[in-house]
Amino acid sequence: MKIVVLEGSPNRNGSTHILADCFRQGAEEAGHTVELIDVAHADIHPCTGCIHCGYEGPCVQKDDVEGIRRKILDADMLVFATPLYYYGMSAQLKTMVDRFCAFNSSIQRKHMKSALLAVAWNSDDWTFGALEAHYQTLVQYLNLTDMGMVLGKGCGSSAMTKHSPYTQRAYELGNRLK
Ligand SMILES: Cc1cc2nc3c(=O)[nH]c(=O)nc-3n(C[C@H](O)[C@H](O)[C@H](O)COP(=O)(O)O)c2cc1C
Repeated sequence: MKIVVLEGSPNRNGSTHILADCFRQGAEEAGHTVELIDVAHADIHPCTGCIHCGYEGPCVQKDDVEGIRRKILDADMLVFATPLYYYGMSAQLKTMVDRFCAFNSSIQRKHMKSALLAVAWNSDDWTFGALEAHYQTLVQYLNLTDMGMVLGKGCGSSAMTKHSPYTQRAYELGNRLK
C-alpha cells in the first residue's frame, strides 16, 4: 500500500515527527511505501474560498499543493500527523486540509484508508476529544476508512514522547496494516 503522512508540526524533529517516523518504520517493515510530507514547511497558502475550482478542478493558487495533491491521489492511505494546538489540529495541517477543496470529490471517490497521529502536553482524559471528533467527521465526509489513532497524551516535548508508550503504538499501527 502507498501511504502519505501529512506532518503538520513546525518542529521538524519534534514529538509529531517522532510518532510519524515510528509509524513509517512499522509500515515499511510490513511492506508498505511511506512518504512523509512536511506540510508545515511547504509553500501552502490558505484556501481563499473563491471556488474557481468548483470543489473539483485546478486551483488558482500555484504553490506546493499541486504536487501534494498528486501524491495524495496516488496513495491508498492518508495519515494526519499533528501537535494539538488549542485542542485542534495545527493551523499548518488545517491549511492543507482546507486545500482539499479543489480535489474533494477525487478523495471521496478513492475510499482511502486513514489514521491520526497526535501529540499533546496535557494528559487529561478529555485532551483529544475535539480533535478526535473532527478527525472522525473528516473520515465520514471524505469516505475514508479509519485504521486507527495514536493520541499521545503527556507528549509535551521530544524527550517526553521518546519515553512514552506512544512510539511503540505508532510503530504497531503502521506494522499491522494489511
Ligand atoms: C500554539 C500551541 C498550542 C498548544 N495547544 C495545546 C493544547 O491545546 N493542549 C495541549 O495539551 N498541548 C498544547 N500544546 C502543546 C503541544 O501540543 C505539545 O508540546 C506537542 O508535543 C508539540 O509537538 P511538536 O514537538 O511536534 O511541535 C500547544 C503548543 C503550542 C505551541
